[in-house]
Amino acid sequence: MDISKVGVVGCGLMGSGIAEVAAKSGFDVRVREVNDDFLEAGRKRIRKSLDRAVEKEKLSAEERDAAWDRLSFTTEVSDLADRDIVIEAIVEELEAKNALFGALDELCGEGTIFASNTSSLAITDMAAATSRRDRFVGLHFFNPVPVMKLVEVVRTIATSDETFDRAFAFAKAVGKAPVAAKDNSGFIVNLLLVPYMLDAIRQLDRGVASIADIDTAMTLGCGYPMGPFTLCDFVGIDTLYKISEIMYDEYREERYAPPPLLRRIVSMGRYGRKSGQGFYDWSGEKPVPLEI
Ligand code: 3HC
Repeated sequence: MDISKVGVVGCGLMGSGIAEVAAKSGFDVRVREVNDDFLEAGRKRIRKSLDRAVEKEKLSAEERDAAWDRLSFTTEVSDLADRDIVIEAIVEELEAKNALFGALDELCGEGTIFASNTSSLAITDMAAATSRRDRFVGLHFFNPVPVMKLVEVVRTIATSDETFDRAFAFAKAVGKAPVAAKDNSGFIVNLLLVPYMLDAIRQLDRGVASIADIDTAMTLGCGYPMGPFTLCDFVGIDTLYKISEIMYDEYREERYAPPPLLRRIVSMGRYGRKSGQGFYDWSGEKPVPLEI
C-alpha cells in the first residue's frame, strides 16, 4: 500500500465516517471543512463514534486514542497538498465539486489520486474538470460508514489501471469489501435502491398500505434491515430527492423521476431523521409514522 496520507473533504455524515474508518485503519487523515463551525461539528461526530466503539468494546481505549491522534482538522484546502489520496464528500452539486477539485489539482502532487464519494453524479464530469483524468475514481461508501462493508470503486473511461488498483487496495485497507463499478449515474447500489425507494413512495401515494405496514412488510417479508420509509428517513429525504433528480436527468426514465409526494415532503422541510421528521416523527423514543 503506497498510500499513507489521506485527505477527506467534507465532514458531514459520510465524510466523518470515511475519516473515522481510515484513521482506525492506520492512515494519517486530514479532514477539511468550509468553516470552523462545520469542522467542530464533524470533529465531535467522529469523537462520539470512536467513543461509542470503545463503549461497545469494538475498539480499545488505546486504539481509539491512536486513531484520534492520526486525525487532523483544517479549513484550508492548501493543507491537503501533501496527501496521497483526497476523498471528496461535500454537497451533491457538480459546480461545488469541480471548484474544489480544480483548486486541489493546482496544489497536489502528480501522484495524488482524487476520489469522489458522490451518490449519483458522473465521476467523468469531475475528472474532466482537472488535468489528472487518469488519476480520478469514485469511492462510494455507504451509511453508516463504520458498519456498512461495501465500497463501490468507480472507474471512468480515462481512469488508469494503476489508479484503479491503488484505489481498490485502499478500500480494502480501510477494512471494506470493494466492488468495481462503471461510471454510470447511481453505479450499482443506487441504480437499484433509488427506484425501490421511489416506488415505495408511489405505492404509498396510491394507498396500497400505510407507512408502517409497508416497512413491516419489507423487513419481515424480505429480511431487509429496515423498510423503505425508514431507509428514506435514514438516507435523508432531501438527499433522495436530489439523487433522483440527477438520475432522472441522466436516464430520462420514469422510474428515477421524483414522485410529486417526495417533493411536497421536501418543501415541508421534512428531511428525515436528521431534521426530526420525514415519513416518521423521530422526536420520541420510537419513530411514529406521520400522516401523509
Ligand atoms: N456507527 C457505528 N456503528 C453503528 C452505527 C453507526 N452510525 N449505527 C449502528 N451501528 C452498529 C451498532 O452499534 C450495532 O452493533 P452491534 O450489533 O455490534 O451492537 C449494529 O450496528 C446494529 O445496530 P443497531 O442494533 O442499533 O440497529 P440495527 O440492527 O437496526 O442496525 C443498521 C442499524 C446497521 C443501520 C441497519 O438497520 C442497516 O443495515 N440498515 C440499512 C442501511 C442501509 O441500507 N444503508 C445504505 C443506505 S444507501 C447509501 O448510503 C448510499 C447513498 O449514496 C444514498
